Amino acid sequence: MKSIGILGLGHCLPERVLSNHDLEKMVDTSDEWITTRTGIKERRIAEKDQPNSSLATGAALEAIANSGIAAEDIELIIVATISPDSNFPSVACLVQKAVGARKAAAFDVSAACSGFLYALTTAKQFLAGGMFKNALVIASEKITDLIDWNDRGTCVLFGDGAGACVLGAVDDGHGIISDFMHAQGEFGDLMAVVSDGREPMDQKRELIRLPYVVMQGKELFKVAVNSMALAVEEALKKAGLGLHDIDLVVPHQANDRIITAVAKKLEVPKERFFINIHKYGNMSAASIAVALYEAEEQGVLKKGDHVALVTFGAGLVSAANIVKW
Ligand code: UT7
Repeated sequence: MKSIGILGLGHCLPERVLSNHDLEKMVDTSDEWITTRTGIKERRIAEKDQPNSSLATGAALEAIANSGIAAEDIELIIVATISPDSNFPSVACLVQKAVGARKAAAFDVSAACSGFLYALTTAKQFLAGGMFKNALVIASEKITDLIDWNDRGTCVLFGDGAGACVLGAVDDGHGIISDFMHAQGEFGDLMAVVSDGREPMDQKRELIRLPYVVMQGKELFKVAVNSMALAVEEALKKAGLGLHDIDLVVPHQANDRIITAVAKKLEVPKERFFINIHKYGNMSAASIAVALYEAEEQGVLKKGDHVALVTFGAGLVSAANIVKW
């Protein structure tokens, strides 16, 4: 089997920052509660006229530029998202048009916060099987459109953003060396999108019928820790590696306390986990993609490092990949 790896990374974040202090003016919460319970200090909010596909396109263009592959030579585009511009066309098709990847096949993947790793593994399989030579994988969310801004239990947690990478053939022994994907549909009701009426962020008026996120945070927390720890162990087993071989863990950024609990369960020092939740909150599928981008940009991730990517999300879906950089 060919070695498939990441040739270039990109990201795109909305400029508008919503701090915990801003949220104090919107719901009954405090910077102290949000910081100690989640680790989040601020998050980004996309503007009304800034659809998911514009964030996805921004991230895609940077990843393409960093990959050395021309947009017109991209053969496959997969976008992981649960907050697309609309049911169709897919965000992947909107990106295809925007970047001029005329040759590509394009589709979206729905796996909530596990979307980036589900999409990464899906794309890798197409490349390893020989159907396509390269792929553009994007994780992009405008999840704040799905938030009930009266619900302090959820509105403090999420933010918008996008990350992307181009996959292609890499030196033998490098790239994505193992994958793990799992789903536990029996936990589906712990977090879901319903639509029986909510008040949107920019409109203080009667409840209107819009979809919004509901969540049983405490229960989800426990399942999240177990699922993430298991996913890392399974991916390591497949790679024939142990935890001591891992230089960096890039986890889904849902809650700093979840990351602490996973580190403790795996007995890996927390210093080996890359964390940027304080700046962006939970960007669903985009969290790991943006964290990976920043880990490389900041020089935390170096050539030859073994990195574990690990996530869980609504569904419940979990996934992990071991990558040799
Ligand atoms: O990608 C998947 C996304 N979801 C998750 O990962 C969620 C996982 N769960 C969590 O991260 C945590 O459960 C939360 C951060 C959501 C909540 O933390 P917690 O420590 O489990 O708090 P809790 O839900 O048990 O609430 C404790 C108290 C409650 O008050 P009482 O009943 O003790 O009086 C809540 O009403 O904190 C209250 N509370 C808040 N207070 C201030 C809940 N949200 C807030 C808030 N500000 N924003």
